[in-house]
Amino acid sequence: METLTMHPTSSEIEYPVFTEIRERRSRRAYSDQPISESDIRSLFEAARWAPSSSNEQPWVYLYATKDQPELWHNIFDTLMEGNRTWAKDAPLLIMSLIRKEFLKNDKPNGSARFDLGAANAFLSLQATHLGLNVHQMGGFEREKAIANLNIPPTHEPVVVLAIGYLRDPQDLPEPFRARETAPRIRYTQEFFVRNKPF
Ligand SMILES: Cc1cc2nc3c(=O)[nH]c(=O)nc-3n(C[C@H](O)[C@H](O)[C@H](O)COP(=O)(O)O)c2cc1C
Repeated sequence: METLTMHPTSSEIEYPVFTEIRERRSRRAYSDQPISESDIRSLFEAARWAPSSSNEQPWVYLYATKDQPELWHNIFDTLMEGNRTWAKDAPLLIMSLIRKEFLKNDKPNGSARFDLGAANAFLSLQATHLGLNVHQMGGFEREKAIANLNIPPTHEPVVVLAIGYLRDPQDLPEPFRARETAPRIRYTQEFFVRNKPF
């Protein structure tokens, strides 16, 4: 089980939230069931409607299903060993990137990663709504991604997303099997919500 530092934590939902927030989690046991093209498009549509600084929408998604084995493998190949162990079963892999500069004036966009995070969160909740699991991974090799995917210097790869329907996790290797069913842990609000100045 995950351990956090010596601050108050809980696995309970303490105040009401909508179903997809409650149900979303980053699992690893993917089934080989393919995802329809229209559901894939719904994921990107959810990302499309995320807020962003100056409405710049600096996110870019490069995706491949196992029907495009060469591109799928070029994304998979960038992953660190620990992620490869289970992401090998994901029928859909997405490299999420940012456009580093504003389109309107070519100045650096300091909010781009922040905005990509919001878009990925929207995408993840839409996936939960569709019965799909999203697992984001920062554990990949940037240089390999740039080479494998021919990423131009105007863009930066940020996070890979493994997406699919789930299978029974019994055949997952440890420690992943145990993590799959362990309760999620979060700091409680008293740790991160304040109504007085620091
Ligand atoms: C930016 C980012 C990078 C992550 N990188 C990895 C990763 O490389 N490997 C992995 O197994 N999980 C990764 N995760 C998943 C987190 O470990 C996970 O979201 C966290 O433990 C909370 O669990 P939950 O998403 O099931 O609520 C990443 C998540 C985010 C948002």
